[in-house]
Amino acid sequence: MASPGPDCPPCAGPDTNDPLATAAVGSVWLTAQRSAAAQRRGRFVAGSGAHPARMLPAIAAHAIATYSRPGDLVLDPMCGIGTTLVEAVHASRDAFGVDLEPGWVALARANIALARRQGGTGHGRARCGDAARLAALVPPPMRGNVALVLTSPPYGRTMHGRVEHRRGPLTKFANSYGPPNPASLARRGLVGLTDGLTAILASCAQVLKPGGIVVVTARPWRRDGLLVDLPGAVTTAGIAAGLAPIQRCVALLAAVRDGRLIPRHSFFQLHTVRKARRRGIPLQLIAHEDVLVLQRPAGDGRAG
Ligand SMILES: C[S@@+](CC[C@H](N)C(=O)[O-])C[C@H]1O[C@@H](n2cnc3c(N)ncnc32)[C@H](O)[C@@H]1O
Repeated sequence: MASPGPDCPPCAGPDTNDPLATAAVGSVWLTAQRSAAAQRRGRFVAGSGAHPARMLPAIAAHAIATYSRPGDLVLDPMCGIGTTLVEAVHASRDAFGVDLEPGWVALARANIALARRQGGTGHGRARCGDAARLAALVPPPMRGNVALVLTSPPYGRTMHGRVEHRRGPLTKFANSYGPPNPASLARRGLVGLTDGLTAILASCAQVLKPGGIVVVTARPWRRDGLLVDLPGAVTTAGIAAGLAPIQRCVALLAAVRDGRLIPRHSFFQLHTVRKARRRGIPLQLIAHEDVLVLQRPAGDGRAG
């Protein structure tokens, strides 16, 4: 990096109106120092484990701490059981969530109420609906005031669910988002998912404040052994929705101890990798999620 020349003006202090200027941002997030079970223990109501693809609480907490401030409004347009909303309430942010499935919305509401009982000072709400129509779902005072959108899309049926192997043959459970719904992004191929994400991110852009941030997490996804470029699809969708990509980070799903990665794979992931290796495909265990960070340009000409 070039050093500043003699004419370089003294560095201004951080711009306190810009979350990116003041946050300690690193591109590799240590988000699995504790196991998923330890992170979730006591923070979610019974029944929450039925959701097939929940975000790690530490990923949500890190994104919220990095890209928003206390008092800000955080939105998750595909909120599931409400991990984003719970972490926002605990971090003194207000939160609004939407999910297509009434069962997940009921759990998200119960989890927000639990976070409040545990001392979280933010306010949270969740509504049932299609995230491609956020302008009609988000209450008017919130429109144009969202500081951070934090979400993770559903994808690839093979990625979801839990596996029971202690009694008898391998059985998969908790691997469905709900009944088939044409508005759902679940079970779509990459093209359908990119189109659906574009509509949802465009709808997010309508309620974001100028300069507001969008963080989308995407777990590496394979189909027939081949890597599907989900992070690329998220970026393509974001640009088509009028957002500007500003960062690409990695949220670790493995712990770091004494400088080494300690995997925290599920039984199912290990089974898949071993099966692939027996067929001569040198797969590795997944140790991270991609995190795509985009921004609504301040002068994009939209209202809000
Ligand atoms: C990966 S999960 C999100 C999980 C969430 N981050 C959590 O920790 O619980 C994706 C969610 O998107 C929801 N979904 C799919 N299509 C949707 C749509 N068009 N509008 C709103 N929600 C949708 C699914 O029902 C599912 O709960």
